[in-house]
Amino acid sequence: MSRTVLIGVTGCVAIYKTCEVIRGLQKAGVRAKVVMTESATHFINPTLFRSLTREPVAVGLFDDAPGDPIHHISLAKEADLFLIAPCTANVIAKMAHGIADDLLTTTALATTAPIVIAPAMNVNMYENAATQLNMETLRTRGIAFIDAESGYLACGDEGKGRLADPAVIVEAVLERLDAKRDLEGKRVLVTAGPTVEPIDAVRFISNPSSGKMGFAIAAAAHERGADVTLVTGPVALEDLPGMETVHVRTACEMLEAVDAAFDKADIAIFTAAVSDYRPANPSGCKLKKGRDDAELSTIQLVENPDILATMSSRKRDGQVVVGFAAETDDLEVNAREKLAKKNADFIVANLVSHGNGFAADENEATIVSKDGAKPLNRMAKGQLAHRILDELLG
Ligand code: CTP
Repeated sequence: MSRTVLIGVTGCVAIYKTCEVIRGLQKAGVRAKVVMTESATHFINPTLFRSLTREPVAVGLFDDAPGDPIHHISLAKEADLFLIAPCTANVIAKMAHGIADDLLTTTALATTAPIVIAPAMNVNMYENAATQLNMETLRTRGIAFIDAESGYLACGDEGKGRLADPAVIVEAVLERLDAKRDLEGKRVLVTAGPTVEPIDAVRFISNPSSGKMGFAIAAAAHERGADVTLVTGPVALEDLPGMETVHVRTACEMLEAVDAAFDKADIAIFTAAVSDYRPANPSGCKLKKGRDDAELSTIQLVENPDILATMSSRKRDGQVVVGFAAETDDLEVNAREKLAKKNADFIVANLVSHGNGFAADENEATIVSKDGAKPLNRMAKGQLAHRILDELLG
């Protein structure tokens, strides 16, 4: 059966390139259907898209769609993928805030299909902190972006903001449509983020883990059809749609949540940066300075449970356990040691230096298993997440 790409078209000069995108998708055997914003109709009459797609073109939320009283829901459901190209700063902003005030944005909110956005706008609008933050918000919700290109813009300015080349857009859409569903029917458990170990009511021991790698793995597993449980320490990321997210603070709480989900999981991936130690006697109130006892100058620490090692000790046949190793030196030797000590099937090792690891958006890792070590190039965490899953699934 041919797949359907719903193409959202917004009001922007680059709109003429959408015609080529439609042609490219059709050549690949994809059914293209268009929904336009009212502003887009000022640039191109819907008749052109109707002729190209040989499908009705939807514009208004309250327009008559014969036989279809709830048009945005049926559009949302029939899409295998929702591409918005070109997408203006305004529509990106609306989507980042869940605003649904026309047919296109209502459909975007109602669809569970993957969404791909190809932005196009003036360079200053593109670089504006508001637009950048809105794009980041949408990225963390699993929406993919096809980067705008740099060059001469319709307004006369030079810079980033040109709609990507139609061939690039078509390729990205086809890649996403063909995404593997090799985790269908599998349960995947992922830990992410730091843990926070209280010293007193307002202070704690922690680390700078952003949770981005764990969230990227959870999103990739979900995309590939897995039933995902994500156990995360405190992070600044929004919950991902379509999965169970359990929020914890301390290593002991993380162990409890993981313990409840581990036996049912086919694959367990431990990306969390768990604090190895916690203060032995955290104070329930804020410790005041100037006290003459040793309470503040010496914090007694006790070792936290090793969540990965505890779980792997009861690993059943066929269950795959993956650990991460953040190292500053001797990457492979240390990773191999952790593989054996923690009874893991794979260790994803990365050097936490040279801008790698923790809060960065990219990472460079080596995947170590009993069969050897596979170094991977530096890439975006979302891409790396898929490469890691590819390795686990062989
Ligand atoms: N891990 C865990 N529970 C802990 C410590 C670590 O589950 N208490 C997991 C991490 O999620 C990661 C792996 O073990 O998957 C390795 O973590 P890392 O911090 O690199 O290693 P440590 O065991 O803490 O060893 P070291 O601090 O000596 O490097």
